[in-house]
Amino acid sequence: MHRNSMESRNVSRRGFVKGIGAATGAALAAGGNSRLAMAGTFSASLPDLQAALNACTTDEDFWKTVRREFLLDPAIIYMNTGTEGAMAGLTVESLKSGYLAFAANPMGACYYNPTYSYEQKPNRTKVAAFLGADPEEVAFTMNTTHGLNLILNALPFQSGDEIITTLHDHAALPSPLDCLRDRRGIVPVRIALPTLVQSRQEIVYRFASALTPRTKALAFSHINYTNGLRMPVRELCDLARAYGLISIVDGAHTPGMIELNLHDIGCDFYCCSGHKWLNGPAGTGVLYIRNAPSNPWSVRPVMTELYDSLATRPITDLFQYSGQHNTPAYTAVAVAVDFVKTVGQAKIEQRVKDLNSYFKKKVVEQWGDAALLSTTLPEFASGMGTFNPFLNHYDMMKIISFSTRVRTEYNIITRFVGWLEKPGGPTRYGQRVSTHLFNEEKDVDSFLDAAAKAVASIGR
Ligand SMILES: Cc1ncc(COP(=O)(O)O)c(C=O)c1O
Repeated sequence: MHRNSMESRNVSRRGFVKGIGAATGAALAAGGNSRLAMAGTFSASLPDLQAALNACTTDEDFWKTVRREFLLDPAIIYMNTGTEGAMAGLTVESLKSGYLAFAANPMGACYYNPTYSYEQKPNRTKVAAFLGADPEEVAFTMNTTHGLNLILNALPFQSGDEIITTLHDHAALPSPLDCLRDRRGIVPVRIALPTLVQSRQEIVYRFASALTPRTKALAFSHINYTNGLRMPVRELCDLARAYGLISIVDGAHTPGMIELNLHDIGCDFYCCSGHKWLNGPAGTGVLYIRNAPSNPWSVRPVMTELYDSLATRPITDLFQYSGQHNTPAYTAVAVAVDFVKTVGQAKIEQRVKDLNSYFKKKVVEQWGDAALLSTTLPEFASGMGTFNPFLNHYDMMKIISFSTRVRTEYNIITRFVGWLEKPGGPTRYGQRVSTHLFNEEKDVDSFLDAAAKAVASIGR
């Protein structure tokens, strides 16, 4: 039996499905759509899901079976996993079990049950293996932003130290760096990236060209949130190592989307989200610290209750022990990891990339090459692609109006993004479309249909 199964918490599945029904009722009362009937059709356990998947004879069948595991409102088409994932029924079930365990016996849960305890050993061990790391190299965080803030503030950067990032990074990275600039005098250096990258060397060269004797770290996204570009992360970590620099990676979009092996990548620090492509609960993330037991970087946490164990425990333990965390949510992340493993991470990666390249192909057919703001080269592919159907890509009001119309008039959820193509601007805008395991080609078709109508009414 699965460790986090409903049975082990003495909560009946029927009760849970009824609970979802009640939530649905509340959503309806609040103006939601009446087609939430699919909620509650998910498998009773992961072995059940595995059996259902094994019985599928076609790809179409397989992905339809996967789709049934999710509680997404059928009235919407959800294509913004890049901002927030959608929990599968089994993940919600685990979350609910955790809260019930706390409600029934608070100390039994947070103190005596290793699944929910402060140290989080079983969940850290499972998540670490999934990420290609050792258990003592990971700690749970609230999200990627939290992880990046924690580690950037914990490293012994000094006035004048330069840290290289890019103009395609999410605010989660430049924001704590700007704060460190004002507080400690560190110097964030933001380099431009070509919107349509042609080669890995082109990116590595841009970082290498920005190095100076004062450079202390390279900090960059594994997958850029702007246009879904998958960065040459291993080459960049090699570059950092060759020059004795620290590598810090914002991996918000990777777990659950692509196969990961942090040891292979060779980064020193990696921060990622449990609530995006892993489809875990909101408020979950992971901080990875290479070689945490020996802590070669003299990391000193800014938030811990275990500082007196600095010499005897891996530095990640000092991060993990920082008050009572939302451990039912971390437990649900471990279930989300099991869910991904049951479906198959490699299969999911292929699926999200296939759907996204279908999207990109259709964009070019519909609006021409100039509308596509993501490269189509397979080595840079991910589950996010960005386009701008308007002639002027620098008109913010048009893209906002487009994004809003597609969401409010057609119930299709995507998001607009913007980035500087060179320091000082101007900002180029586009609409980002995330394709995940619960999406299908007809979602892309519906989106592009809606997009065409929205563009027609706004004017190109
Ligand atoms: C690249 C990137 N980093 C960080 C974040 C912030 O993620 P979180 O909400 O987990 O802090 C995002 C969110 O969209 C992102 O796209």
